[in-house]
Amino acid sequence: MTDTVEFINQKTGNFKPEIGIILGSGLGELADEYCDTAIPYNEIPNFVKSTVKGHKGRLVFSQINGKKVVMMQGRIHFYEGHTMSEITYPVKVMKLLGVKTLILTNAAGAVNESFRPANLMLITDHINFTGTNPLIGINDDSMGERFPDMTEVYDKSLIELAEKCAKNLGIDIQKGVYWANSGPAYETPAEIKMAKLLGADAVGMSTVPEAIVANWCGMKILGISCITNAATSNSGEKLSHDEVIKAANIAKTKFKALVLEVVGKVS
Ligand code: HPA
Repeated sequence: MTDTVEFINQKTGNFKPEIGIILGSGLGELADEYCDTAIPYNEIPNFVKSTVKGHKGRLVFSQINGKKVVMMQGRIHFYEGHTMSEITYPVKVMKLLGVKTLILTNAAGAVNESFRPANLMLITDHINFTGTNPLIGINDDSMGERFPDMTEVYDKSLIELAEKCAKNLGIDIQKGVYWANSGPAYETPAEIKMAKLLGADAVGMSTVPEAIVANWCGMKILGISCITNAATSNSGEKLSHDEVIKAANIAKTKFKALVLEVVGKVS
């Protein structure tokens, strides 16, 4: 990891970000608008490339509303065939760069039937249904404990702050539990029924691995889901990636406004 951090520090002139943002499907525009230095993943030692349509694949550094920020423009997903350890490597690198607060964003399907496409949901908790855990393997005791507590992965004060920011901006906000599957297949109606029964409000294919690692190494986490569709059994209609990207596009203006406001107000 030292070679990765040294390479990045050399490229950015020792820029020390305090906030990290991982930008989900269709939400990457923020890193086009705020970009002082950008480093493609494929140039960074030990990084893997992102292969998803609509994801760029670069680390972007910028000053936003008075805060130093590093953004992942293009997330690396488990379903692309990378290991859990590979997809969460950037979170550990962010920690070593100085990041204290991590904002995780994603596109998600609504399990909760009162949610509508283009709604934003603050993640209050998660259910890891990926079938594995990014912390499996030898524990790096210098970064975190072997058996990390998970009682408050999503920081309550950040949720409150985001709610206040949303209110000031006139943005309707939902709150709920995010359920993570491995993907890449969307869920069957029976799977959505199960997720609903077990307490999920939204379902997606990301965020949870990064949240587990960020919590382990002591970061404060805020999770924001952009609801892009009714999950399979709720709509009775077929679902496509294009539908997801279309809804994320509709929501992106308020999504960006909310993230910018939160970044400016984080202490
Ligand atoms: N399921 C899983 N992942 C998703 C969905 C969904 O319905 N929408 C956006 N990402």
